This record gives sequence, structure tokens and C-alpha cells, in this order.
Amino acid sequence: MKKYLVIGNPIEHSLSPRLHNYWFKENNIEAIYEKRQIKEPDIKGIISDIRNGKIEGINVTVPFKKSVIPFLDKLEIPKKTQSVNTIYIEKNNKTGSNKIIGENTDILGFKYSLEHIKYSVTGKKIFILGAGGVTPSIIYALEEMEPSVIMLSNRTKEKAKDLVKLFPKIELVEWGEIKNFDMIINTTSLGLKQNDKLPINYDQIGSGKFFYDVIYNPKKTNFLLEAEKRGHQIENGKMMFAYQAQEAFRLFTIDPNMRSGLLPTINKQVLQLLDND
Ligand code: ATR
Repeated sequence: MKKYLVIGNPIEHSLSPRLHNYWFKENNIEAIYEKRQIKEPDIKGIISDIRNGKIEGINVTVPFKKSVIPFLDKLEIPKKTQSVNTIYIEKNNKTGSNKIIGENTDILGFKYSLEHIKYSVTGKKIFILGAGGVTPSIIYALEEMEPSVIMLSNRTKEKAKDLVKLFPKIELVEWGEIKNFDMIINTTSLGLKQNDKLPINYDQIGSGKFFYDVIYNPKKTNFLLEAEKRGHQIENGKMMFAYQAQEAFRLFTIDPNMRSGLLPTINKQVLQLLDND
């Protein structure tokens, strides 16, 4: 039986196994997808297990998306995202040489989540909160969609400045200050706990804005609840998560002779799997 893994720390909350196991079954693929809490020194051994065929592929979550990079043979990611969330082996039947590939499907996941709700970023003023592991992937996706400006604010200024080095067009905003925007994106982990509050005066924000939270559990963070109360459009990270997993599944099922891989369905049933009760 083929084996797949999601690695991270903590990992208990991960819903990747639910999705991938559902899709394996749906496509009659004999495979099992598990979650494993690891520590950084474990990465090397896990990658060796891909090389020697014990594991077919892995997804990577916080905090290892950057630290897996040195162990891979080939990166299929935009360098400045510094983030790999999908690892698989590319087998070359002709030469017999196999390569461990690192991919970043968060970028597509974010992009498709906006396409899903037909929200166009082009020409819009975007305000990002946070400078964590997923933020560069979101900035990369946004820049491709040509907003008029991307502003960014993070509690730790140094981390925000590091992002400006990678994406020089970003405008930095002091933590706690809110500039005029069309779309605001929470990429911080504030909101995972019920009492978490971002330093935002919601009454100062005009009407008709779009509030996007990368968090999907809880379904509505304080950030989204406050926005919804005031009639703004809201979206959580559920579709981004579903689409990044869909693209990862496609990569996992690429056959050396049949290049494209299987794109599994995202339907109501699949989305229900992500409603963690
Ligand atoms: P990592 O940086 O390890 O990838 P993450 O969970 O992806 O972790 O990102 C954490 C993000 O949430 C960061 O932007 C972090 O801000 P700092 O860079 O200042 O740490 C933000 N964050 C977490 N807890 C926060 C808090 N209590 N107040 C403000 N921002 C917070």
C-alpha cells in the first residue's frame, strides 16, 4: 500500500488526511495518508524514505515549510516564497534517475479560492496582516493578479522588513495602524483561539470591504465576525486549504507516462470533511 504523510508540529489539527484519504478512495487508489508530528532532525530520514520508496509523497505544514528545502533535489517553487508544502518523487523510467521535488501549492490554493468566489484583485488596495510562513506565498499570488498596492503590517517589524527585501513593492504599515484598503487578509495565527483579537478599530473602516482570513477553524474568527456584523464580505481559509490539497493530490498522482495527474473533485461532501466539529 502506498503511503503519504503530512508532517508538522503541532499536527493534530491537520485535516489533510481526511481529504486525501477521501480522494484516494474515490479514485480507487490503494494508498493511505497519515499525519506525523516531527522535529527538525527527523526531516532527513523522512526524505530518505521517499527516496527508498517507503513513502510516496508528503505535505509539509508549520513550521517546516522552509527547513525541508535543503533536503530536496529540485524546487518547483518561486524562490522568494521560501516555502515548500508538497514533496514527491519524479521518476524517470528512461534514465532510472529519480528526483525529489518540492512544490508550493499554497500559491495556487489562494488564487483559486479567490476565483471560486469571483473576487478580482486587479487594481485593488490590499492590506496584509502578518509575516508568517504562508505570507510570501500569498504576496506572490497577489502580485500576479496586479493589485494597485499591497500594504503589510506585522507585530515584529523585522519580519515585515525581510518580506520587503523579497517583495520590494510592498508598503509597510505600523502594527495597529489601519490604512484605507479594499481587501484585508489575516495571515497571522491570531484568531485560532476564541479570545484572540487583532488590533483593529472596525468602526473606523468604511463600508463594502472584503475580509479574508487564512484560518478556517474556527469557521469565523473574531476578525470575520466583526466584519460580518458591519456588512463586509468575508471569506475564511477553507477554500484555500481545499485547493492547495487538490493541487497536491494532482502532483502525487502524476504518472511518468501520463504527465498531468488526477485533479480530484471539490464538492459539497469534500467541503463537509473540512467542517471540524
Ligand atoms: P511562522 O512564522 O513560524 O511561520 P506562523 O504561525 O505562520 O508562524 O505566523 C505567525 C504570524 O502570526 C506572525 O506574523 C506573527 O507575528 P510576529 O512575527 O510578530 O510573531 C503573528 N502573530 C502570532 N501571535 C501574535 C500576537 N499575539 N500578536 C500579533 N501577531 C501575532
